[in-house]
This record gives sequence, C-alpha cells and structure tokens, in this order.
Amino acid sequence: MASVSQTLTFTLRKEISEKLNRLPLRYFDRHKKGEILSRATSDLEKVADTLQEGLSQLLTAFVGIVGSFIMMLLISPVLTLTAAGAIFISLVVAALVSKRTQRYFSLNQEALGRVNGNIEEAFSGNIVIKAFNLEKQMVTNTEIFNENLFQASKKAMFMNYVISPVIRQINQFGYVAIAIGGAISVIKGNISIGDIQAFIQYVNQISEPITQISYTVNSLQGAIAAAERVFELLDEEEELPDIVNPAEISAPKGNVRFEHVRFGYSDDAILMKDISFSVKAGSKIAIVGPTGAGKTTLVNLLMRFYELQGGRITIDGVDIAKMRRGYLRSLMGMVLQDTWLFGGTLRDNIGYSKENADDEEIYKAAKAARADHFIRTMPLGYDTVLSDEITSLSQGQRQLLTIARAILANPVILILDEATSSVDTRTELEIQKAMDHLMKGRTSFVIAHRLSTIRDADHILVMKDGTIMEQGTHEELMNLGKFYADLYNSQFAAKGN
Ligand SMILES: Nc1ncnc2c1ncn2[C@@H]1O[C@H](COP(=O)(O)OP(=O)(O)OP(=O)(O)O)[C@@H](O)[C@H]1O
Ligand SMILES: [Mg+2]
Repeated sequence: MASVSQTLTFTLRKEISEKLNRLPLRYFDRHKKGEILSRATSDLEKVADTLQEGLSQLLTAFVGIVGSFIMMLLISPVLTLTAAGAIFISLVVAALVSKRTQRYFSLNQEALGRVNGNIEEAFSGNIVIKAFNLEKQMVTNTEIFNENLFQASKKAMFMNYVISPVIRQINQFGYVAIAIGGAISVIKGNISIGDIQAFIQYVNQISEPITQISYTVNSLQGAIAAAERVFELLDEEEELPDIVNPAEISAPKGNVRFEHVRFGYSDDAILMKDISFSVKAGSKIAIVGPTGAGKTTLVNLLMRFYELQGGRITIDGVDIAKMRRGYLRSLMGMVLQDTWLFGGTLRDNIGYSKENADDEEIYKAAKAARADHFIRTMPLGYDTVLSDEITSLSQGQRQLLTIARAILANPVILILDEATSSVDTRTELEIQKAMDHLMKGRTSFVIAHRLSTIRDADHILVMKDGTIMEQGTHEELMNLGKFYADLYNSQFAAKGN
C-alpha cells in the first residue's frame, strides 16, 4: 500500500510539474504563487498520507468483516440479520457524515491555500512591509487567514474523528440487541449457549472493522477534497500545443514583421488594436514610450508568451505560431525588466543560457557585459554562490549578470527590456558599444527610457496606449517635432537644469 500511494503521488507530482510548464503565462498572472504551491505540496501530501493509511486499513477491515460475516451466517441467520441492521444504520450514518466532511475538508484546503499565499507574499514583500511599517497590518492579515484556517480545520477534524465514536455507539446498540435476542433464543432452546457465545465474539470482531471502515471512508473525503484541487490544476486550460509539422528557418537572419497584430491580456480589454511594422535583419530597433504603453507586451508577443487575438508575427517570413516555442525562443536572447538569478554560482548563473558552456566563453560574455570586473573583485570570483546572498548583489550588478547570460546565448535576435536601467550611464554606454559589436548583422530590440542611449538606433518605434504613434530614425522623428521630439526635449531639458 505504501508503494501504491507513493507511486500515485509520484505520478501526480510529475504530472503537476509537466502541467506547470504547459500552462500559459495567463494562468500565473491570475493566481498567487503560494496558492499554486499549496496545490502542488499540501494538497498532494494530504492525498498521499490519507491514501497510504486508508487503503491498507480498508483492506484489512474488509477481509475481517467478510470472514466474520460468513461465520455468523453459519451460526444463526436470524441473529445475523439483527447485526446486519446495525451495520446498515452505521453505513447510512457514515454516508451522511462523509458528505459534510468532504465539504469541510474542501474549505480547509482552500483556507490552507490562502494562508500559504499570504505567507509567500509576506516573505517576498518583506522589505516593503518593513519600510512602510506595515508589520502590524501584515500580522493582522495573517491572523485573519490563520483564524479562518483554524475554524475550517477544527470543523474538518471534528467531522473526521467524530465518526468513530458514533459508529462504535451504534454497533454497541446492535451488540446489546443481539445479546438480548440470543439470551431469549437460548432460554427457548433454539440455540446452544456455545453458539451464542461464539456469535457474540464474531459480532465484537466485526464491529471494530466497521468503525474503522467508516472512519477511513470519512477521512478519505479529505483526500478527495485535496485531490479535487490537484485535478483542478491539472484540468486548467493549457497553452496551444506546438503544431505537428513545425517550421524552422534554415539560416535565421532576424527579419521581424508584425502584421495587423491585435492583442489584449483579456478578451474584453484589447490593448493593441492593429500593430504593423517591419524590422530588417541586423538593425537595432528602439522601442520607447511612456509607462504602460505596451513596450514589454510587444516583446512578450514576439517571444510568444501570449497568443495573439489577430494578425501574425513573422521571423524571416515564417509565422512564429508555426514554429515550436522552444525553437522560436532559442533564436532570441532576452534580458528582462526584472532580473532573475537562482541559487548557484555566478558561473552557473551566466552559463544558464547555454548548455555545456566552457569557462572561456563565460568569461568572454561577462567581459562584454562589463560584469567580469566586479565578479573578479569578489573573494570567490566566479565561484561565489548565490543563495542567501542573492541580495548582496546590487540591482545593477544583477542586470550585468543577466546581460552576460543573454550574450552567451549568442542569439539571432536580442531583446533588452530596460536591461541597463539600473546601471550607471557610463557602464550603460560601454555595454552598448560592446553589444553593438556583438550584434553586428543581428537584430536587436532595445527598450529604454533614457532616450540619449538609443539615439543611434536604426529605427525607433514610439508607442503610446498600445499603438505605434510614430516611427523612424532619431533625426526623422526630431524633424517631425511631435511626440518623440517632445519626449526627447523634455529629458534634455531636465538634464540641462
Ligand atoms: N500580465 C498582464 N496581465 C494583464 N495586463 C497586463 C499584464 N502585463 C501588462 N499589462 C497591462 O498592459 C499594459 C501595457 O503594459 P506593458 O508592460 O507592456 O507596458 P510597458 O510599456 O512595458 O511599460 P513600462 O515602461 O512601465 O515597462 C499596461 O496597461 C498593463 O497594465
Ligand atoms: Mg515594460
């Protein structure tokens, strides 16, 4: 039974982990991390624990009941009927209790999920919570969630355990009825005292397993409630599967075209109505525009993190929806707005983008990203382990590491989303020079708020409210004298002061 329940859990856990990879980003946008985590851990554990304990108990109890029942039938069918009556009543009561138990366990697991979500939030927002002196409020929040969980757990556990004494009591009534009925039969001489003695022993033997079965079936409701949450996750709508005969580009160059792209994060709130532009291979495209204009969204669409609601995006003439996602993403290197590093050495963190990258390649990428210097000044250099010390790197240093990572991937298309926003201006310029050199003949998309850094871009897309307002080179846009020129001049003026 241990192996049955562990195999089941193992399989489920594997399915969950594969499922999480197939879920669209949309799902993660809508659910708290701690909530998802809770389904993959607490709920799964609950299923495993209950099954392991429950299945073996069910089996032994069942065998015990069937065996004793046969013996009882052989001794006295009439008295057996009395015993069966008690059993029947037990089962009805057990069924009634179980129904409620399942409901309470559902509430319990839900409350547990919310507590986990809350804890996750409290940890990841630790600094902000402290900065705004919100510890008290956070504790109060936690107390509310905790109180809810306490109430739900109390009810669920009460229902879980109350069943044993109740069923035992019913069985004891049956026992008394049989003892009286048996005594009368003995007095009448219908049955020998030895038989009644044996019968009563079997009744005793049968009543404990019945109590146990009721208890097990009842507590399995907890497993069912938890399993439902696991299956809810497994049943979530997945991203479209990769198409059967995926296209590949024989010699990728990096021509990118957006054709009448229509997109919204939800169907009723369309952000981009009709976006079209084309980018020649090897050019440097800058995307600029105010906060919330849709710059990151544009990049998300190019990486196919979200599906379009209309139109298409092509790379070298091939629709990206016709490619495998893995292949598409292998063409691109991306540095995101927020940096992500994992527990491991700096070497591993940079080497993350390329399988079996050797040390020389890693150092070269780090040099190009201007990260080599600060890494070498650390006592352990490239072998510095990031774990608890993740926070011991500055935001800019973290960005340099992720840039090195993208450079190492050596992609056809490079995407930098505010990649150097936390780096000082001189380093930013140096990185850009190195980048220009690296990206010769390849396409790069640069999203930047500091317009001085993208003046030399081959093409500038100016975005606002999900549309492209203006496009062209820096000179063209300045001559146009509209939105971009205003934006540029305002930054320049700010600097002049
Ligand atoms: N995952 C998401 N789910 C729903 N809406 C989103 C999501 N991400 C962004 N949005 C919305 O889409 C719009 C465009 O966001 P986007 O991140 O593309 O802006 P941006 O131009 O990159 O801004 P910034 O300069 O601040 O990075 C915003 O109004 C934002 O609220
Ligand atoms: Mg953005």
